[in-house]
Amino acid sequence: MDVYEAILKRRTIRKFKQDLIPTDVLEKLVNAARLAPSGANLQPIKYVIINDPELLPSVFSMTRWAAYIAPKGTPQAGEEPTAYIAVLADREIRATGYDSDAGAAIENLILTAVSEGIGSCWLGSIDREGLRELLQIPENYHIHSLIALGYPAESPVAEDAVDSIKYYKDENGTLHVPKRTLAEVMFVNRVGN
Ligand SMILES: Cc1cc2nc3c(=O)[nH]c(=O)nc-3n(C[C@H](O)[C@H](O)[C@H](O)COP(=O)(O)O)c2cc1C
Repeated sequence: MDVYEAILKRRTIRKFKQDLIPTDVLEKLVNAARLAPSGANLQPIKYVIINDPELLPSVFSMTRWAAYIAPKGTPQAGEEPTAYIAVLADREIRATGYDSDAGAAIENLILTAVSEGIGSCWLGSIDREGLRELLQIPENYHIHSLIALGYPAESPVAEDAVDSIKYYKDENGTLHVPKRTLAEVMFVNRVGN
């Protein structure tokens, strides 16, 4: 699968099969993130692989899913993520301005996941203090995001946005994700007329 194919195929997944992701594959995802572009090459982003079955339910309880369609986007029992990668910013390396680094790293991670047949949900709505305590994360790390992972048990579809960018589920339970059209988001040479 080439990169563009992975980009077209990637959709946020919020229902997962319960087959476990091998640890070496999770490490491959972190390696892909590690090699992302980084401002001044400071590389402040660090990663916690979470796949201990004893931790997973507690981590799940610290996540919030699909606000536009809540509670219909929350994984039900037996559909939960089977692993997570917590994305941290080491403030001793870079005190502020690490968001772009984190974004580049996370996109590398989730596109590599697509190429491995793994679905993901980038979670920003998380209980950071709860995660800090549970995962023993020292104060010098900002908890940027949590990436939920697992083999997909749903197949969301992207479509051209017409009136709204709000994702929705149809009568069959398929998630539709409106994307602004190329004509709406792209300018050539000049933005004005
Ligand atoms: C910074 C960021 C934070 C997000 N936080 C959440 C979240 O807390 N919960 C959730 O269910 N989805 C979250 N998402 C996923 C978005 O809802 C999703 O990317 C969007 O609906 C578009 O769908 P797509 O990823 O399939 O293109 C987040 C995405 C990003 C980029």
